[in-house]
Amino acid sequence: MITIAIDGPSAAGKSTVAKGVAKKLGFVYIDTGAMYRCVTLYALKNGINCQNDEEVVKCLPNIHITLSIDGKVLLNGEDVTFAIRTQDIVDNVSYIAANKGVRLFLVDIQRQMAKDISIVMDGRDIGTYVLPHADVKIFQIASVKERAKRRFLENISKGIPCTLENVEKDLERRDYIDSHREFAPLKKADDAIAVDTSYMSIEEAINAIIKIIEEKVGPINE
Ligand code: DC
Repeated sequence: MITIAIDGPSAAGKSTVAKGVAKKLGFVYIDTGAMYRCVTLYALKNGINCQNDEEVVKCLPNIHITLSIDGKVLLNGEDVTFAIRTQDIVDNVSYIAANKGVRLFLVDIQRQMAKDISIVMDGRDIGTYVLPHADVKIFQIASVKERAKRRFLENISKGIPCTLENVEKDLERRDYIDSHREFAPLKKADDAIAVDTSYMSIEEAINAIIKIIEEKVGPINE
């Protein structure tokens, strides 16, 4: 059983790369950001103010999240894979992620998920808090300009209206909130290896990370 933690700021390409690494190694991919997005969606749908920590914590027992092997995200049995990617969610998810009660609730589920199988888990606090004993820890970064460009092109291809300037401002805002929150902020673990993907293609980033993993734990045969 091998556990791989991949952390880093928003839009650094973590989920695409983590998914690719998991696929190549035959591991299960766990997208923890999707879980914070599910709580945000539940709160918005039920008229709960995302900035009211107590109200949000009260609704946690009603939230059941399933991450299926084929990449679908289910919230109380409903497929929300696309619903958790809207701008409304993006605008509110940092408040939910800064809520300590939410973090304790989700971290518990994340640790359960990583217990008995080989996984690649991506997020912000995986190497520092969720899985401090992960076999390999990666801190994936890319310049804010490059991340904004990628997210801008992604939005345009999906028909989401935006400007490059606004995307960059939004990323800087989220980076700031995520790395300055009191509990389990976005931070490179001391024993994490930084991988700058600014000038790498997705395939290059996947291969660079697999090389680091195999150097650390030896060749992995599916
Ligand atoms: O990776 P993402 O954009 O889907 O993450 C959504 C939000 O959740 C983002 O604001 C950071 C936060 N998050 C977190 O605080 N801790 C994690 N382990 C994963 C995501």
